Amino acid sequence: MSALFFKRFLQKPFQVASIIPSSRALVERVSDKIDFEKARVIAEYGPGEGVHSREIARRMRPDAQLLLFELDAAFSRDLERQFGDDPRVHVCNRDAAALPDELQRRGILSCDYILSGIPFSILNIDKKRDLLQKTHNALSEDGAFIIYQVTNELKQHATLFEHADSEYFLQNIPPMFITVFRRTAGRNGHSHPAAALAQTVRSSSVGQ
Ligand SMILES: C[S@@+](CC[C@H](N)C(=O)[O-])C[C@H]1O[C@@H](n2cnc3c(N)ncnc32)[C@H](O)[C@@H]1O
Repeated sequence: MSALFFKRFLQKPFQVASIIPSSRALVERVSDKIDFEKARVIAEYGPGEGVHSREIARRMRPDAQLLLFELDAAFSRDLERQFGDDPRVHVCNRDAAALPDELQRRGILSCDYILSGIPFSILNIDKKRDLLQKTHNALSEDGAFIIYQVTNELKQHATLFEHADSEYFLQNIPPMFITVFRRTAGRNGHSHPAAALAQTVRSSSVGQ
């Protein structure tokens, strides 16, 4: 168990909202939802001690950028230390709601992916709506917003996204819903070329 993670949980239980980081299996499953060939700008809300950020940085292109929004100062210092040698990674010790401001400051037009580990369910409704709107506005046309949460309650609020795909992932303590929201549905109403291809393969094997 990460000692820093547990310490930060004891200091700010509602903000950190978990006593252990995401499992290796969850990290891999979430990263598998990102098309790293395409991704040039990825933002992450609530990286904590960086368990997802390290995997994303490991897989992402040399010319991609990863913006980490972490409210907690101790986690942010630790992230700065971990990624100090990687010019692709920018640690922002700010609320996730500062995303539009940070993009403008850096001359970035949009994000291809936004990943969130923040405890959305405990945000008040106005903050939740505001962050969803900012997230939607910041995504490129075929961009995706990926969340992993204990409950799937955000789905009922995220109606501005045209498409949502959820799975219940058991290999984490506690189990999590992983949901991918997309601004636009892809061809055939599917969310992603890979999903559309999988559906085509499934449909043709059904007929055999
Ligand atoms: C449940 S932890 C997840 C940590 C890590 N992503 C993981 O999977 O193990 C939630 C993290 O979100 C951060 N956080 C909570 N609200 C935030 C906000 N509005 N903006 C940025 N970070 C936030 C907390 O400080 C904490 O590090």
